[in-house]
Amino acid sequence: MSFQHKHILGTEQLSREDIELILDTAESFKDINTREIKKVPTLRGKTIINLFFEASTRTRTSFEIAGKRLSADTINISASSSSVVKGETLEDTARNIEAMHPDIIVMRHGASGAPHYLAERIDCSVVNAGDGAHEHPSQALLDLLTIRQHKTTLEGLTVAIVGDITHSRVARSNLYAMRTLGMNVRLVGPGTMVPKGIEKLGCEVYTDLNEALEGVDVVMMLRIQLERQGKTLLPSLREYASLYGLNPSNLKLAKEDAIVMHPGPMNRGVEISSYVADGPQNVILEQVENGVAIRMALLYLVAGGSEGEV
Ligand code: CP
Repeated sequence: MSFQHKHILGTEQLSREDIELILDTAESFKDINTREIKKVPTLRGKTIINLFFEASTRTRTSFEIAGKRLSADTINISASSSSVVKGETLEDTARNIEAMHPDIIVMRHGASGAPHYLAERIDCSVVNAGDGAHEHPSQALLDLLTIRQHKTTLEGLTVAIVGDITHSRVARSNLYAMRTLGMNVRLVGPGTMVPKGIEKLGCEVYTDLNEALEGVDVVMMLRIQLERQGKTLLPSLREYASLYGLNPSNLKLAKEDAIVMHPGPMNRGVEISSYVADGPQNVILEQVENGVAIRMALLYLVAGGSEGEV
């Protein structure tokens, strides 16, 4: 099966078949990352530019590693070291980069829709590495790969996504993809942090964490995004931790074999206690490990690869 998308802008545009192809392709790349020689010639001759206008540890590094392990030439540009600080517009930056003929631009930007804007104006593929509070597709896909590795099948599983849903591109990308795959999604948070009407996307909304955790297969905790909140949406971090923080006691409400996820970076002691973050049910570093394989799969598929050739 071949992949029909030139760009990866969000999971909203991906079908069940697309998602399964990406997960299967990532599985086939996984073992490269633990070999002694962690490199294959698959994308030799391709040029990938990582254009990051926002801070990142996991996403930027793993896209860079993914490109290098596939033998692509990978260049990183961050806003602080680019001519953006001199006032250059996004479109001018993109057109100048495109004049150097890259094959793929991986972009993170604080404005929702920025990668879509870019994709409409330039010829090469664009991969969204997180746009504002809109989508973070590669994160959702690595989350799904991690869940599939623990639960075998995804359809019918129940997932609680807990925290600042309004500002979370991770929550939105997971919600779209999980609904496409027939998973049950519970969104949990204070009323000020859950968008009105989001139930229309096919999820259940809870304001009580204990109720939401009852019998779930997966608990996904989100970071409080203070940098995206225009005004304070919670009385105090201490109160938030007591009402919405995951700890060993409330985790017992989930299924005994439930897994605990977090996209990082974590606020230990706020949305998640260290006992849980480092406890036996956490799969947080597996998520990071799977991030490299998922990003290898995305780069490979938008560059024109198909499943049987891996
Ligand atoms: N999960 C995630 O996007 O982490 P970074 O901000 O470190 O890339």
